[in-house]
Amino acid sequence: MKYHNKKVLITGASSGIGEAIAYAFAKEGAFLILAARNIEELERVKCNCIGAEHVVTTFLDISDHDKVFTKMELLINEFGPIDVLVNNAGISQRSLAINTYFEVEKQMIDVNLLGTIAVTKGLLPTMITHGKAEIVVISSIMGKLGGPLRSAYAASKHGLHGFFDTLRAEHYKDGLKVLIVCPGYIKTNISINALTGTGKPQATMDEATGKGYSPEYIANKILKALKQNREEIVVAKGRERMGVVLKRFFPGLLSWIIRKAKTV
Ligand SMILES: NC(=O)c1ccc[n+]([C@@H]2O[C@H](COP(=O)([O-])OP(=O)(O)OC[C@H]3O[C@@H](n4cnc5c(N)ncnc54)[C@H](OP(=O)(O)O)[C@@H]3O)[C@@H](O)[C@H]2O)c1
Repeated sequence: MKYHNKKVLITGASSGIGEAIAYAFAKEGAFLILAARNIEELERVKCNCIGAEHVVTTFLDISDHDKVFTKMELLINEFGPIDVLVNNAGISQRSLAINTYFEVEKQMIDVNLLGTIAVTKGLLPTMITHGKAEIVVISSIMGKLGGPLRSAYAASKHGLHGFFDTLRAEHYKDGLKVLIVCPGYIKTNISINALTGTGKPQATMDEATGKGYSPEYIANKILKALKQNREEIVVAKGRERMGVVLKRFFPGLLSWIIRKAKTV
């Protein structure tokens, strides 16, 4: 088992995809550091992990960037270098750009992009020195193309590709592996927690999200992709997967299709 006794830090481990990733690594015998804001939910996830005695939980708000750096330092001092960082924490959006407060756009970038960069930079030097480190980044299909009601979300996820493709190249010589994951719809609380234009959560489950893949499905795909040293995977059903292909080879056609997508 590749991850037996490896130290794995998962952000956004209190729910959804992060929670399922925690269970998948726990099965492998990894030592887990589960991070998020909701400690009660983190404790629930910890209790459900195989080998819960090898799991610790910690409060982390990745939008509070200065505190993120301090927290990463504390974690390194307590547990030593992290072998695998899973950058999963994120929030989505459900609003047209024209109706979205700038504060909401800033929040999307602060969490999904700058928060992820802060966590990564806080750990990177020790990961590099320790060697053979791996970083998983949960992007989205919206990291590959843009779609209605997701302008700032798509911007934040596109930014992740720019940053982490660069990081992979810069630290190839140091043995750093970076896997970017682009999920389509996955059945989690993402649409319930998604921000509307005023910053209030949408508080309802989207039909498409409700019909998405299970979090366990994507977690298993991620573990498999890590073991195969993949650099990027798309985990999506037919139409969304086709969107990525069209964007690459027939961008004009995709643009025409997206113009016709629902915006309410
Ligand atoms: N589900 C989908 O259809 C889908 C599709 C594409 C990409 N994704 C991506 O998958 C990732 C996980 O989302 P999910 O679907 O599992 O949704 P989710 O169930 O809403 O989980 C989101 C996780 O992120 C954490 N989080 C949010 N803001 C945070 C902050 N400021 N600091 C620390 N943690 C924070 C939440 O924990 P706390 O609230 O406890 O902090 C929660 O654990 C996200 O990056 C999302 O963009 C999801």
